[in-house]
Amino acid sequence: MRIPLDPHSSQPLYRQIEDYLRQAIRSGSLPPETRLPATRQLAEDLGVSRITVKNAYAELESDGLIASRPGSGTYVSPPLLAPASPDRPADIRWPLWQQDLPAVEAPAIAKPPGRDLNARAHPDPIAFTGVGDPGQFPVRNFLKSIQTVIRRDGVAALEYSGFDGGYDPLRETITQVLASQGIRAQPEHVLVTAGSQQALALACQVLLKSGDAVLVENPTYNFALELFRTRAVKLVGVPIDEAGMQVERVETLLQQHHPRLIYTIPNFQNPSGACLSVERRRQLLALAERYNIPILEDDFVGDLRYDGRALPAIKALDPGGRVIYIGTFSKMLMPGLRVGFLAAEGPVYDHLLRSKLVHDLITSTLMQRTLDDYVTIGRYQTHLRRSVRLYRKRRDAMLEAIRRHLPTGVSFQSPQGGLFIWLELPEDVSALELAPFAEQQGVGYSPGSLFFVEPAQGEGYLRLNFATQDSQRIEEGIRRLGEAMHRLRQAAR
Ligand SMILES: Cc1ncc(COP(=O)(O)O)c(C=O)c1O
Repeated sequence: MRIPLDPHSSQPLYRQIEDYLRQAIRSGSLPPETRLPATRQLAEDLGVSRITVKNAYAELESDGLIASRPGSGTYVSPPLLAPASPDRPADIRWPLWQQDLPAVEAPAIAKPPGRDLNARAHPDPIAFTGVGDPGQFPVRNFLKSIQTVIRRDGVAALEYSGFDGGYDPLRETITQVLASQGIRAQPEHVLVTAGSQQALALACQVLLKSGDAVLVENPTYNFALELFRTRAVKLVGVPIDEAGMQVERVETLLQQHHPRLIYTIPNFQNPSGACLSVERRRQLLALAERYNIPILEDDFVGDLRYDGRALPAIKALDPGGRVIYIGTFSKMLMPGLRVGFLAAEGPVYDHLLRSKLVHDLITSTLMQRTLDDYVTIGRYQTHLRRSVRLYRKRRDAMLEAIRRHLPTGVSFQSPQGGLFIWLELPEDVSALELAPFAEQQGVGYSPGSLFFVEPAQGEGYLRLNFATQDSQRIEEGIRRLGEAMHRLRQAAR
């Protein structure tokens, strides 16, 4: 344990040790049941006498913060034994520069209502949130690929490498995946990123400055909205319908707001599930060309199609350099891999690469090599086919359950792919008022307000993920949602 000590301070050394440990325990960085170093060991580590450490421990023990167990060692006490103290994290006096930082609603972002179901309210909560089903993660096959890579590549798999955009074989594999979607990219146009979220962030960094306007579908992916908000850009929302962004409205908005970027999720949009029609894709590209604005195309679940014909990516229609295309292995495979990518040509690629380097140098070498092994030996395609079959069944189960259990007045489209069903609630049901009733019934969802430029616009909507629960739980969860709506209406009478 390294504790910074100041031998010139007027505060005795044992007090400095005591204060440091007290802070660490109260802030939670030394949680209950942590074993503290033996006094002899800590004295050696810090270059102080053993009696100094013993004195510090004795003070903490007399305050009930730590306890020694004969023959075993000294442990941080459970919180009940650690009395409340004025220097809990919320009460720490932060330096002025920290106090000057504007307040952010981090907890609201991290735990939107409905996502953090209160387990005490219901013994068996069912949450229609998240992305893919962790039960389907191909853990065993992925382990085989990790072992293959480490055996095959040795330390190279653990070195820095690929500073020019990623592990070359993976970049080639990605171009093949893109080619199967009609996108003709060269490996040198592919930049491997830490998930597609990083690709979004890099594009923002390179293309936007504070005060610029960005055109987005309204509603759209909540963490893209949050990202844009952190860049202090002006969000200009374009309404959507069953064929995606209403591109007919875009030209007027371009003339009014002069945006510097158009952000779109053309396939199985998050949250609406809508697909942008081919005609609108062409129109959007033509407008972007005429008004000289880049398109950021986020294709987060393009391969999860359950019905209908695949539509060309906007990037596939791009004669070159107009569209920055973003993809990810998170939804089709596993989000914890943190491997995504972008495809872009022209000078913007070099800017994106430079931004990537200064942010995190490279994406994990081991993960890139493992993913490449996994994808090239065909396991990825097999996994994808299995996921499509399974999620199609779950989508159908949810649509049926909605028809069976939710009241008339609820409206929705059947998504042709992706992960979400977007519900428009009857006029007398607000997502906010529904939340406590849903929580009581033990059913979770993502409230519509997360996805709108103006959160209040989302009051009448909720997003349901159909991929994470099996058909039986979908049936039960939707029944509970219907019951919550019924109870809300009864309470309002
Ligand atoms: C539309 C969309 N884009 C991008 C992302 C970011 O995903 P990741 O960074 O895991 O690739 C998400 C995550 O849910 C998403 O829904």
